[in-house]
Amino acid sequence: MTRKILVTGAAGYVGSKLVRHLLSYNYHIIGLDSLKYGDESISQLYNNPYFVFQKGDIRDFKLIDRIVNEVTDVVHLAAIVGDPACSKMPEEAFEVNWIATRYLFDACKNARNISHFVFASTCSNYGKMDNEEFLNENSELRPVSLYAKLKVKFEKYLLKSETRKDFYPTALRFATIFGASPRIRFDLTVNEFIRDAFLKRRLTIYGEEFWRPYCHVADIVRAIHLILESNPNKVSHEVFGVGDSNQNYQKKMIAEEILKIIPETNVNYIHKEEDPRNYKVDFSKIKNLLDFQITKTLPYGLNEIYNILDKKQIEDPYSKKYTNI
Ligand SMILES: NC(=O)c1ccc[n+]([C@@H]2O[C@H](COP(=O)([O-])OP(=O)(O)OC[C@H]3O[C@@H](n4cnc5c(N)ncnc54)[C@H](O)[C@@H]3O)[C@@H](O)[C@H]2O)c1
Repeated sequence: MTRKILVTGAAGYVGSKLVRHLLSYNYHIIGLDSLKYGDESISQLYNNPYFVFQKGDIRDFKLIDRIVNEVTDVVHLAAIVGDPACSKMPEEAFEVNWIATRYLFDACKNARNISHFVFASTCSNYGKMDNEEFLNENSELRPVSLYAKLKVKFEKYLLKSETRKDFYPTALRFATIFGASPRIRFDLTVNEFIRDAFLKRRLTIYGEEFWRPYCHVADIVRAIHLILESNPNKVSHEVFGVGDSNQNYQKKMIAEEILKIIPETNVNYIHKEEDPRNYKVDFSKIKNLLDFQITKTLPYGLNEIYNILDKKQIEDPYSKKYTNI
């Protein structure tokens, strides 16, 4: 049977890449998005017979009730994304990231046609590490922002939910994403740093010592696909980090990689003692249980974005449409 996937947030940074990937594997797709950042990232797909685009808001419960009856699986990406966007729009963040997300989940749980439900969560859920130790799926969650608090709240709801036996919900905690996508974002550390180094020959780095895990958007998309294809016994009611244990970087290490590409970059460090989001993550669970391996490293992503900028493939990399803030 052909599987038909509902991808919410289909026009976003991850969504616009995921939709193309799944179409290339012969899935049928319904893409749902309110188009906060326009439809440039998916308009090319409107003529694809296996792709149906629905402009709409996940807070429109009538629309959700209708659409969940038409699909076999759901990948839920739509959200108010990132700490700055959630702080700026706390009410909308609460409605979208909690109320509407829970409604969508319950609707899927009750619709007998739906098997997998994949939720986009974040490594920001960890907050701050103690003693430089690697964190993993068993670590305590200490979210510091509204964004992460709402992700944690829904993750808990999903993991504890009692469901019919043939409904398989999974939460994926993505590392901070980088790399090219039809809707590139330049408000994410790696993409932002290489853009500034290329266009201004100058980088200002706040808190150069702080650690974070990073993952290429193409590998995030492969991980979502892997969950859709996995044995339900391994993924149902489970949480997995998505990334690679070797791809934890301090910000100054990213700057060092950039200097290899653009040696004349003037790097200015502004030291900070405390960052509530200083963490290294161990991604052994997805590697050992599902055999997941990344294919693209952080230095690969820097070179990729450098080449895109060098070829002037993005008209105005400082345009507002490439940021969620
Ligand atoms: N980018 C990262 O580094 C990262 C890291 C961890 C987790 N995530 C998670 O991955 C998911 C996708 O992130 P992204 O980087 O692609 O973000 P994005 O902002 O590029 O995409 C989100 C999409 O959701 C849509 N949307 C927002 N509110 C909506 C609503 N009410 N109804 C319908 N559509 C709505 C937006 O129009 C946008 O196209 C998010 O859930 C995010 O929290 C992202």
